[in-house]
Amino acid sequence: MKVHFILHSFNASCMDHNTLKFCVFLILVGLLVNISFAKNDFENCKRVVKVWADSSLDKEIGEDNHKLRDLLFFLHIPRTGGRTYFQCFLKKLYPGYLECPRSYDKLRFDPRKKKCRLLVTHDDYSMISKLPRQRTSVVTILRDPIDRVFSTYEFSIEVAARFLVHPNLTSVTQMTKRLRSKTKGISTLDIWPWKYLVPWMREDLFARRDARYSRGLNTTESNDSYDMEDFAMPLKEYINHPASGDIVHNGATFQVAGLTNNSYIAEAHEVRHCVQKYKILGKFVLQVAKKRLDDMLYVGLTEDHRESATMFANVVGAQVISQLNAANSSLDIGDKIEQRSFPDSDPHSSEHQNSTSDRGASKVTSSESGETAELNITVGELMNSYEGCISNLRTSYSGRRIASLKRISPVNFSREARLQVSEEVLQEIRSLNDLDIELYEYARAIFYRQHKTTLQTFTEERWNNIPSIVYGITLWKVLPLAITCVFLLFLFLVIVNVRRRTLKIKMKVMKS
Ligand SMILES: *[C@@H]1O[C@H](CO)[C@@H](O)[C@H](O)[C@H]1NC(C)=O
Ligand SMILES: *[C@@H]1O[C@H](CO)[C@@H](O)[C@H](O)[C@H]1NC(C)=O
Ligand SMILES: *[C@@H]1O[C@H](CO)[C@@H](O)[C@H](O)[C@H]1NC(C)=O
Ligand SMILES: *[C@@H]1O[C@H](CO)[C@@H](O)[C@H](O)[C@H]1NC(C)=O
Ligand SMILES: *[C@@H]1O[C@H](CO)[C@@H](O)[C@H](O)[C@H]1NC(C)=O
Repeated sequence: MKVHFILHSFNASCMDHNTLKFCVFLILVGLLVNISFAKNDFENCKRVVKVWADSSLDKEIGEDNHKLRDLLFFLHIPRTGGRTYFQCFLKKLYPGYLECPRSYDKLRFDPRKKKCRLLVTHDDYSMISKLPRQRTSVVTILRDPIDRVFSTYEFSIEVAARFLVHPNLTSVTQMTKRLRSKTKGISTLDIWPWKYLVPWMREDLFARRDARYSRGLNTTESNDSYDMEDFAMPLKEYINHPASGDIVHNGATFQVAGLTNNSYIAEAHEVRHCVQKYKILGKFVLQVAKKRLDDMLYVGLTEDHRESATMFANVVGAQVISQLNAANSSLDIGDKIEQRSFPDSDPHSSEHQNSTSDRGASKVTSSESGETAELNITVGELMNSYEGCISNLRTSYSGRRIASLKRISPVNFSREARLQVSEEVLQEIRSLNDLDIELYEYARAIFYRQHKTTLQTFTEERWNNIPSIVYGITLWKVLPLAITCVFLLFLFLVIVNVRRRTLKIKMKVMKS
């Protein structure tokens, strides 16, 4: 930049014929300086990223990663469906007082509560620097990166649209302030990354509404919900905005690597910016993220929901049950720490409306009042209650979504509407999320490997309670058998064929 400036100021004097040669010389020197500056910048970045990667790979967690340690850290990547695991599994397993205070961004982790056993958060992996690393097991869920970007976009707009009940933004801020001072609950706006994405979309929605009103317009020619610029920011614009670059794209990789915009480690921001600037450096980040996934107790997939939930119940749930039961008989887990800091169990509940009382509230109080959750629950029972729990959650989420999107109708996000999005935009999303795409493939490989071994290790009677697993096990047993049969048949045919031919040839030879 500086060099350009100097060149410009020399430009004027270069008009003089005599100094032309000198000027050409200067320009060449300038170019060289510029190139070497760029090269230096790259080298510097490469060094920074490598130092970070080496030190991250260095830290061995050691021991058996498949054994649940004292603290369970649920690394919740936004829009992967982690909430249902929290509401429908973990809350049923862990009594409230064993839950660590949520560290949703500005509230951050509270190290005073040393004996907590469960931490569920959108914080990135660098959170582990605040935890007893050797005694912590990490679990996470990954989702197809394209779907995750869609979902992030839709949710940003959906939550922002709830504010459109207000006549203007001034009214929004006044109302929010008033509610903040009254209630202590967490709102979506406190939680990374929504604390950035929602206010951004909210401002945008209000601006578009004002523009629409001033033009007296309330319809659109477009029938593509992802491209109705009079009503909401088009997807294409959203994905190309710098804020998305910093928060949304490759978000899973950065979160697992501990490099998000919300990281606890000082060098994270430099490393992230370097990787965003020089794509080739992404391989170091991927290397770290993959190693982290390898070391996790469990990696689920949003897409394979049924299998993921079943495996979660068997791998994580079963161990939590036996761990807490053992602790109850020997230790003093009744040694209660302060009350849970946050009464609102649903951070996604809308902030400016009445707090939703539809889930879990009574459960929480009962566990807070001293009784432990029914830990003599079996894995089968856990799965059964999960089914009911998740369908309730889905109904309530979708109700809220429909109500919220009505405010920006005709925009309506759905599976069918997504089909309208052009291949060009999809390609752009793919390219902006190249690291996440590779990490997701890696996670799938881990998942299917674990799926296989889990099914082999668990005993038959456990499956009987759970139809989904019976289905799973027959599929997994039948598939290899079927493949073997087909292969044997194929082999048989080949051999027969070859024999016939050799026979024919022999006969020909004999004839001639
Ligand atoms: C915003 O809405 C409130 C409530 O209707 C109104 O009193 C105020 O004048 C509005 N402010 C602006 C800048 O339009
Ligand atoms: C994180 O991203 C948001 C939105 O782009 C930005 O406003 C904020 O300053 C960033 N924070 C850091 C620490 O980089
Ligand atoms: C909140 O809900 C209660 C009843 O559940 C109702 O009495 C109250 O008016 C509501 N408040 C607002 C601001 O909607
Ligand atoms: C833990 O122990 C208490 C009494 O010591 C008992 O009432 C409770 O049911 C036990 N909880 C579990 C999960 O075993
Ligand atoms: C949006 O689509 C869903 C189904 O995809 C439908 O149930 C809902 O009524 C639609 N909302 C509007 C406002 O058209």
